[in-house]
Amino acid sequence: MAYERSVSAADHDLVPESVWNIRLPELRFGRDATAELPHQIRDIGVPDGAHGLLVTDETLVDVGHAGRVRDVLVDAGLDVDVYDDCEREPSVAATEDCISFVRDEQGEAGYDFYVGLGGGSCLDTAKVTRSVIANGGEPLDYIAEPTGSGEPLETSGAPLVLMPTTAGTGSEISPVAILSVPEKEIKEGISSAHVRADAAVLDPTLTTTLPPELTARTAMDALGHAMEGYTTHEYDSLLRPNDPADRPVYAGRTPLTEMFSEKAIDLLSSNVRRVVHNGDDLDARANMLQGALFGAIAGLTAGASLCHAMAYPVGNKYHTYHGETIAVLTPASTIDYNSASDPSRFADLAELFGIETTGLTDREAADELKSQYVQLQRDLNVLPSGLNELAGIEEEDIDWLASQTVDTQARLLRCNPRPVEKADVAAIFRDALHNWE
Ligand SMILES: [Fe+2]
Repeated sequence: MAYERSVSAADHDLVPESVWNIRLPELRFGRDATAELPHQIRDIGVPDGAHGLLVTDETLVDVGHAGRVRDVLVDAGLDVDVYDDCEREPSVAATEDCISFVRDEQGEAGYDFYVGLGGGSCLDTAKVTRSVIANGGEPLDYIAEPTGSGEPLETSGAPLVLMPTTAGTGSEISPVAILSVPEKEIKEGISSAHVRADAAVLDPTLTTTLPPELTARTAMDALGHAMEGYTTHEYDSLLRPNDPADRPVYAGRTPLTEMFSEKAIDLLSSNVRRVVHNGDDLDARANMLQGALFGAIAGLTAGASLCHAMAYPVGNKYHTYHGETIAVLTPASTIDYNSASDPSRFADLAELFGIETTGLTDREAADELKSQYVQLQRDLNVLPSGLNELAGIEEEDIDWLASQTVDTQARLLRCNPRPVEKADVAAIFRDALHNWE
């Protein structure tokens, strides 16, 4: 029983966890699901004639997706303003800009509903904006101390629907919004059940314009969520909190998350080559969008772990893309280091990846998984060969990265299935410098 990884109460007060729960937005999925957006909005309580805000970015305006979504809403009798200034990996200041836009247009009450359209950055901007308008103040009020004030969100606010245009981040279902704090070179999350959207509409026709590099990066992020969720600790290896409200957001894997991670790994690993090499393959795009959703349901409730913990310091310092960072770190962390925690589970993971494991020991199966995962990255042709190619990272940078991981990512490391010390993290970073020559 992993008592030391559990919630913050005296051990003798607590018993082993015996309950899991899952909360999800209403989900609507499929080709041309965009046409049903007005129905979805009404289903979550938005009245006819309401006035909403579409939160997106210029690229999605340019390719026509923002206009298509806006037209669907207007044709259904809804009034819509558009905010299209979302930035990649949004900073606190960037979300403040969107919040100011809302207050300038609508005052403190804000809009009747919000629609976020885009990659994780647009979706997170929409989540933060809706939350801050409903709860008052500024984003920093709700970011954890010491960066922010760590105040709890008291309410969710006006209805929010998210529409992902990448198959990757899982922001459409997650209870977290990630913001960068450039002056501190860190990223911080606002994490609360109130941040989660009320509904998500997933339409693969909105993902076909994604170029190969972005398709590959976001796919590797999605695969990371599925693989980390599949291999994290079980929910009943923690302690049960006295108050159910204190149950952690990342609460361990359950029979339900297990089903989703298995299907996600299958869908993502068997379709990613198709979408990267032919972005117009709508069947493959639909499989990827579904795989990313399932991976998020698994990984972002069971818990992302070591690989994500290590990816944040890299992203903060070198401004790398999240999915690309996950891709280069996964072989050394999620597969190589963590497979010692439960070798037979990693042999099962290899099978989900489509590897023939008959006659292999569990360790050999895990090693084969690592080599096939690296081969997959090489086949995609658009991903870096390791941390060195990703951002010029070298041996001398590792000590700082390992310290940052241990010092700032306790929330994720707590979920890792194998205990991890700074020296282990440094060795994993070293392994990930070059995944291939
Ligand atoms: Fe991720």
